[in-house]
Amino acid sequence: MRCNIALLGFMGCGKTSVGRKVAQSIGWEFHDTDALIEERVGLPIPEIFSRYGEEYFRTLETEVLAELATRCHLVLATGGGLPVREKNREILREHFFTVFLRVSFPLLFERIRRSTNRPLLKKYRTPEELEALYRTRIPYYESAHVIIDADFLTEEDIAEEIIRRARDYGVLA
Ligand code: S3P
Repeated sequence: MRCNIALLGFMGCGKTSVGRKVAQSIGWEFHDTDALIEERVGLPIPEIFSRYGEEYFRTLETEVLAELATRCHLVLATGGGLPVREKNREILREHFFTVFLRVSFPLLFERIRRSTNRPLLKKYRTPEELEALYRTRIPYYESAHVIIDADFLTEEDIAEEIIRRARDYGVLA
């Protein structure tokens, strides 16, 4: 049953800050897959990548997502690469109302370029490489139930739109 909301999208699209606002407005619990993984391993994301590699991180993403899917009334911010795995998309499809926060690449890049907690910025070093990564992911993000074009919306506007769409969809009373 789809009784949770998951936000999908590339790094910097606002999943965490918007997700928190949605959860607060509707009184649901907020979770963030990255934070849960960091808690579980006891290390920050860049350390997990450098010590154990990306595949290990991806396996943890699936584990954490599968556990959350057994619950209801959660708002979840997913890591930007989470919908790439088929298994994760299956879990999302079955248990979550999914929303893609679509933000144009230049804006995303402006927001993430200085971050130090995103190991993929070391692997994809130029804006062109990162944009190519974004493009490979768009089809996965676009499989969401709802797409919100977020470039010109405030976080409050986006949160309200998500709540409206979740009501229309019947996930929310
Ligand atoms: C990743 C995005 C990050 C985090 C990890 C990998 C990705 O999450 O899961 O650094 O593959 O795009 P955010 O989208 O919350 O930055």
